Parts: sequence; C-alpha cells; structure tokens
Amino acid sequence: VYGASQIVQIVSNGEKYLRGKDPKIKNLKILTKHQPEQNLCIVSENGIIKFIGLDTDPEFSKFTSFDQKIDAQNCSVIPGLVDCHTHPVWEGDRINEFKMKLEGAGYMEIHEAGGGIHFTVKHTKEASEDQLYQSLVQRLDNFSKFGTTFVECKSGYGLEWETEHKMLRVLTKAKREFKSLSISNTYLAHAVPKDKNSEELTQDIVENQIPKMRELIESNELQVDNIDVFCEKGVFDVQQTERILKKALDSIEGIQINFHSDELFPLNSVEMAVRLGSKAVSHLEEISDSEIDLMSKSETVGILLPTTAIIMQLKRPPARKMLNCGCIMALGSDFNPNAYCYAMPMIMNYACVDLRLSMNEALVAATLNSAFALGVEESRGSIEVGKCADLVIVDSQRWENIIYQIGAHSNLIKYVLVNG
Ligand code: NIG
Ligand code: FE
Repeated sequence: VYGASQIVQIVSNGEKYLRGKDPKIKNLKILTKHQPEQNLCIVSENGIIKFIGLDTDPEFSKFTSFDQKIDAQNCSVIPGLVDCHTHPVWEGDRINEFKMKLEGAGYMEIHEAGGGIHFTVKHTKEASEDQLYQSLVQRLDNFSKFGTTFVECKSGYGLEWETEHKMLRVLTKAKREFKSLSISNTYLAHAVPKDKNSEELTQDIVENQIPKMRELIESNELQVDNIDVFCEKGVFDVQQTERILKKALDSIEGIQINFHSDELFPLNSVEMAVRLGSKAVSHLEEISDSEIDLMSKSETVGILLPTTAIIMQLKRPPARKMLNCGCIMALGSDFNPNAYCYAMPMIMNYACVDLRLSMNEALVAATLNSAFALGVEESRGSIEVGKCADLVIVDSQRWENIIYQIGAHSNLIKYVLVNG
C-alpha cells in the first residue's frame, strides 16, 4: 500500500485491548507525511505486515520487489473492521414485522405470538444447506463491502440439533472456504420452541446437543469457536444459561463464552459472565452500576449493538459510564432479520451520535477491542508489524470521514484487504 496520507495505527503498547476513557492520542497513533514527496507505505508479505512507515526509511529499502502495489494517494488507511456479533445464517426475513413494529408492536409481543425468531426458524428449517450457504456468502460479501475483514457469525435459528447442525456445517464451510473475510463461529442457544419449555431445552442442549457438537469438533467436521446463549426473561434464565455455558466450557477444548446479556430485562447476568471468564457479553441496555463495576475490573468485554437499541427503541446502554469506569468496550452490527444492517461504519456513527463515543473510541471498539472479544487480538484488530494485513483504504485524507459521512461507504471504501 503506497502513498497514503494517513495510516491509523492503533498502538496498544503491548496491551491486548484498550479500556476506559477516550483512548485517543496515546493509542491512536496516526502516521502522516511531512513533505509532499514522501510516501507512507505498508508492506505485507504472505499476508503479514512487515513494514509500516515512510519510503525514505532505510528499512523500506530492504523490500526491492513487489507483486502488487496499491495506490493510496490521498487516502487514509485504517485497520480492517471487526464485527464481533452477527446472526447471518437464515432464511425468512422480517420485513412484515418491521412494518408491525413501526406501528407499535413490541419485539417480545411478536415473538410470543409465534413470530420473530420463530418465523425465521421455520424458514431456516425448510431451507436446504446449499441455499443457506449461498445466502450466507452473499451476506459475507456485503459485510466486506463495508470494510469488515473479520466477523463473528452465530447459529441459533434451529432451536433443535438437526437444524443447528446444518447451520454449523454452513458456517464451518464458510470459515474454511470463504476468503474475502475471516470468520469466528458461534453456537447460539437462541430461543425456546413453542412446544417446549426452557428447562427441557436446557437439558437437551446440555445432555445431547453439546456432546454431539463436541464429537464433531473433535473429528474436525465442525469448527466452533464460541458459545452464546440468549439470556433473557422468557428465554433462558441466568441459571440455565450458566449450565449451558459451563457444559460447553468443560467439554469443548478452547471454546470461548460470549453471550446475550441484560438486553430487555435486567437479569444481573454480568456477575456470572465475569465469574465464568466470559470473553464478552452483548447488548447491556439494562446493565446495572454494580455490573459495570464488576466488568471494569475484569477482562470481559462489553459489546454494544447500537442499531438494535435504536430499531427496538430500547433504553440505550450507558456507554459513557462504562467507558469512564474503565470497561473494555467493543461494537458489533448484530446483523439479523430484526436489525438488518451490515455496515460497521454506520454502527460507529450511531455509537458516536447516539451513545456518545468519541470517533477514536468507536474505531478502537470496532477493531482491536472487537478482536479481543473474539480472542484474535494477537493477529487482528490493528495495523502492527507481525499482524495480518487486514486493511481498509479510505478514499479521503482524513480517516474520520468513514464515520462522519453517513451512508457514503460506497464512495469512501476504496479497497478492503484481508490477509494482504
Ligand atoms: O441479538 N436478542 C436476541 N437475538 C438477536 C435478535 C435475533 C432475531 O430477532 O432474530 C439480537 O438482537
Ligand atoms: Fe444478537
């Protein structure tokens, strides 16, 4: 990448994530050129960043031949965006319910009447594996167009093993074969079917689904990186969530916890998250002060999902309070049939305007901290020598335009590089 006006490095000074109040200046190191004839460059080899700096640097002269040069004149370079919370494997969109919601219907009201997640589950069950894979790949392409280079993808529209297994096969195939972005896969216990109660389902997940998943992971048929539960009043309560998470932790080597917490009702589930060593908890619209305090002393990341809170007109998560108390914060799109948004630049804009993050905080939350929430911070989330060359080349001399110019991504995102 040659000739950039700005390279936005997120310098973590050896830290794997950034926490707390406005991590700007110190951590958002912005390389700029001082003379017009200088050129800012990033060199990558076999997908790994080898050099960041000016072409007048003696280090740079070691690189004598290039297979490919990307012209970044008048552009800025930011790290590839990391979207740490999405639900992209399904059929059955909810355009009709969107209309109902605009007319005043509530999310849980629709869900309890058999719509919502249940509607999507019905269509996902009926869909063939191939159909699900095709629609997933299309969606992954869309994430990528908006600058996402690493995405977490959840299952969860099966609610029983056969369909969950189908979704996990689709995700495993995408993780192995889709090259335009990298994927972290999540098994999600998402809802209770109308003909079951949550206790029966919890038992089925713990006694049948997780052991089956473990076998398939061990035989390398499935790749699953995280376990998630929709811990919510009327779905899985805190004790049931804990049983599911613990079972996965105890039986599947290396699996990480990352669950839906405190979205619609305050269930105080962050205490359990911290105790079990969750990598992250998502939503947090209803997080309490004592949970914020606990989180700030832990390495559990708070993932905020601004579109969902806006679309559902929820109370907003207390983002400023969380940052001021020293929590580690990340951002996700929560792409799903209820919150149909692929665009992390839009998410960053909402995080700034609606949740009052600074632009620097939003970028850190959408890159390094998001990578940390997925356990990939050693290789992703910032522009550093030795990390994967996941880069977004923004067609503007000021990187902040990616946040400021709402909906202008197709003009602004010139190149998205994944693994170089
Ligand atoms: O994160 N809260 C639960 N899950 C999703 C919604 C999924 C759906 O409605 O299909 C969320 O917002
Ligand atoms: Fe979600």
